[in-house]
Amino acid sequence: MSATHPAVPLTERAAAHVMPTYGPPKATFVRGQGTALFDEAGNAWLDFLCGLAVTSLGHAHPAVTDAVTEQAGTLVHTSNLFLTEPAVGLAERLARITGWDDAKVFFAQCGATANEAAIKLARKHGKQRSPDKVRVVALDGSFHGRTLATLEATGQPAKHEPFAPLAGFVDHVAHDDPDALRAAVTAETSAVLLEVVQGEGGVRALDPAVLAAAREACDEHGALLIVDEVQTGIGRTGPWFAFQATDVVPDVVTVAKALANGLPIGACIARGPAAGVLSPGDHATTFGGNPVTAAAANAVLDTIEAQGLLDTARVRSQRLIEGLQRLADVAPYACGVRGRGLLLGLELDAPVAAAVEAACRDRFLLVNAVAPDVVRLAPPLTVSREEVDLALSALEEALSSVADAPA
Ligand SMILES: Cc1ncc(COP(=O)(O)O)c(C=O)c1O
Repeated sequence: MSATHPAVPLTERAAAHVMPTYGPPKATFVRGQGTALFDEAGNAWLDFLCGLAVTSLGHAHPAVTDAVTEQAGTLVHTSNLFLTEPAVGLAERLARITGWDDAKVFFAQCGATANEAAIKLARKHGKQRSPDKVRVVALDGSFHGRTLATLEATGQPAKHEPFAPLAGFVDHVAHDDPDALRAAVTAETSAVLLEVVQGEGGVRALDPAVLAAAREACDEHGALLIVDEVQTGIGRTGPWFAFQATDVVPDVVTVAKALANGLPIGACIARGPAAGVLSPGDHATTFGGNPVTAAAANAVLDTIEAQGLLDTARVRSQRLIEGLQRLADVAPYACGVRGRGLLLGLELDAPVAAAVEAACRDRFLLVNAVAPDVVRLAPPLTVSREEVDLALSALEEALSSVADAPA
């Protein structure tokens, strides 16, 4: 048995008893405040990763802390056999921000379980029309989660390989080929599942023609269009949801990550006929709509609204994009910028993103290599102008240091 004494380094304790599914840890943090994370030595890091696009209000936001504290001291859990105000209030708020008066919400715990609910909903919707209408069309490069169904929907074959064979109900098509997408949708398709901006796939915004093709094909074949807004939702790309900046309206939207600023939550939101598909007994989860996580989410949505953070974030995004474009002109390796809002990727002309990420860490800046040649930046919506400028300077230095490093 390994010691649990604090004198034993956390890395050793983790190595002894935590499954190594995430690779070697890159730092240990003890506290966060706004855009800053503090490590054991007291160093302040600039967090332009937000725990993978989660802490959009920054760390330890007082509105979230207060909501959680208040709710934790009032009522933590009841199960879904009973109603609580935070969950119902959150469903109402989600209906408001989607702009769907008839929206109905299923609460999950994370992105994968929100997508799992959406896939089950679509398969039931399909089967109500025809027994074989259970297939799903998804895109290459997509990421939808790690449960068996969402793993299968994820368009990254290497992630399937250790667990194959999978159930075989997902058809993948190229992310940039509207004709291939149209051709893949058939009478047996229950849903098309896609991200408007592929996050884990490399911060890649879909061509509007692909979105339009998905909507048309779904309409033609009576399938549902599910937009996975787990990473893009709650203002990350500009509007509340990335689809709201397009001409396409999905039938189902899933959201998670930033919804409760770090507490585990997911939601599957459906409109129109899709909203009425799931009935008692079809789907359930013990912790869904938990009062504490729902209270945190209500505080997040209220704060974004009250403080006009979608607008602030647009201004910061502009500054960050301009700064990154300048780097693409002057800094080694940097050659382009992609993404939307505060979900941005710095494109590199060589597969050095991991080295750039590490060099940023050496300068106490957290970003991540989302592809071999793309560095992802996802600062909080509350990031200040000064923090944007500091991050850009650190990134510029990091790029130079990688260029100067001996081969
Ligand atoms: C678009 C998208 N969908 C689903 C997921 C899975 O979410 P979770 O890790 O909360 O299960 C992610 C996670 O990165 C994601 O980016």
